[in-house]
Amino acid sequence: MEVIIQPDSEQASQLAARLVKKIIMEKDRPVLGLPTGNTPLLLYRYLVEMHRKEGLNFSRVVTFNLDEYVGLSPDHPASFHYFMWKHLFSQVNIRPENVHIPDGLASDMEAHCRQYEEEIKVAGGLDIQILGIGTDGHIGFNEPTSSLSSRTRIKTLTEQTRKENATFFGAEENVPYHAITMGIGTILEAKICLLLAFGKKKARAIAQAIEGPVTSMVTASALQFHPRAIILLDEEAASELRLVNYYQWVYEHKPEWQKF
Ligand code: GLP
Repeated sequence: MEVIIQPDSEQASQLAARLVKKIIMEKDRPVLGLPTGNTPLLLYRYLVEMHRKEGLNFSRVVTFNLDEYVGLSPDHPASFHYFMWKHLFSQVNIRPENVHIPDGLASDMEAHCRQYEEEIKVAGGLDIQILGIGTDGHIGFNEPTSSLSSRTRIKTLTEQTRKENATFFGAEENVPYHAITMGIGTILEAKICLLLAFGKKKARAIAQAIEGPVTSMVTASALQFHPRAIILLDEEAASELRLVNYYQWVYEHKPEWQKF
């Protein structure tokens, strides 16, 4: 794992945007795995800015979102469809046919999940999967005890996750109980996994995921198996890590060719 600690979320998000830009510019048909939540908002803002000011071209970009609530239509303001179009897709030149987000209203959920996996494969696999993290250490909606080799499927959300996401729904009782999510096995097949975490409330989950044992109780810890997992943190999210000085030393001495 490569752990990069930046003074704040702005600088960390700028770095993330530079890495995504590099992938978009290097590949003929870049395939991005994308998250929702508060964490990637700044990254999306920087990508939009790069599109507007530097002409970053999204016309060849293919995207797959990590997850979606079951039962929400794409125009529901709390749906991840709505979120993605509002914060990124409507502001760049992406082709709508290249955008993939699980369908929370699919009539045959199992078939839909299988097809989602197939579409990722047909696209050539994910060049990068960007991730946030829940306070219980989940990635996507892979709640504690999710199989570490799981594929795209339906998960029941924990009470903690439903409480934390209640702000998007007005009240907790409006938060769906189920979501479709890429599995841990799906995520681990991405060529690069880039996890972003900001703020003190993520510090414990981050310490467990990076320095704790690999366990399905903290599904982000499965990233320890990934050959190219980059963890981008602000200082607060890094505050419970034991090897902070080492991570900073490694970053300062990174060979020039490895930088982005
Ligand atoms: C939800 C999403 C995750 C996200 C997490 C944290 O559970 N399914 O993908 O990482 O929330 O959200 P936030 O970035 O708002 O803290």
